[in-house]
Amino acid sequence: MHLFNTKNALQTFLESLRKGRKIGFVPTMGALHEGHLSLLKKSLLENDFTVLSIFVNPTQFNNLEDLHNYPRTLENDLKLVREISSNIIVYAPSVEDIYEGKMQSFHYDFDGLEFQMEGKHRPGHFDGVGTIVKKLFEIVLPQNAYFGEKDFQQLQIVKKLVEKHRLNVTIIGCPIHRESNGLAMSSRNERLSEKARKEAAIIFQTLTEAKQFFQTHTVQETTTWVESIFNSNPNFTLEYFTLADEQTLVSIDEKIASQKYRGFIAVFIENIRLIDNLPFY
Ligand code: PAJ
Repeated sequence: MHLFNTKNALQTFLESLRKGRKIGFVPTMGALHEGHLSLLKKSLLENDFTVLSIFVNPTQFNNLEDLHNYPRTLENDLKLVREISSNIIVYAPSVEDIYEGKMQSFHYDFDGLEFQMEGKHRPGHFDGVGTIVKKLFEIVLPQNAYFGEKDFQQLQIVKKLVEKHRLNVTIIGCPIHRESNGLAMSSRNERLSEKARKEAAIIFQTLTEAKQFFQTHTVQETTTWVESIFNSNPNFTLEYFTLADEQTLVSIDEKIASQKYRGFIAVFIENIRLIDNLPFY
């Protein structure tokens, strides 16, 4: 494993091995789990070299408490990385190395993708994501970059960022990695009690059952059914459940056979916000 804390050192190193070789890139905020590692393994298979970034990006947090509480476990992350391969290049910069005294996000137009779901509930979040992802792409200059469908809206937004700014990188979406009980893996799961972590399996269960229910019911009936499951359980607060078009992420009111829909959900349990999604086709 090669570890760099500054972009200058990373870039010097990458220059020496770039010629004719393919670089894969996996951006993360650390607190690595099997979900992150599945992206890393895919990149290792498909590229000559893989860069993993670990950076808790302040500009994408709309809630200071969430930023403060975000798990930072660099030593353990590096241990996990070493166990996978000795060939991974880790970039773990400081805020100063990335933002150089100007810690602010740029404003982006993602053709409306930014106004749906997470965008409605986390103001400024996708400006922060766009800012950091673009900066990281410009530092690493990868051929391929890997993003999880766990954050499906983020994946679509990053594809839009690349298209609009004509960035020379291919974005590869990767399936959601789940715990054995179906709970989507997330760094935030670490903050749940053992009991809540078991109970949170209901999120994926409900999505799966809602997909069945949707076969024979309308959009409105399906939404009301999901809401009733969470509203009748005092341990959960449902922020949203929505059925949306995969490309535009616009919520749908009725079924159109040719469209591909996904169910998207955000739920609080023990004050921790969890998200998940599932194709409904
Ligand atoms: P983070 O939440 O650390 O996630 C890093 C990458 O891992 C993202 O592409 C995310 O979708 C993916 N991922 C997380 N959990 C996953 C799971 N259970 N299965 C599959 N993939 C999963 O997303 C971010 O960081 C940041 O917004 C970032 C893109 C790094 C910009 O700061």
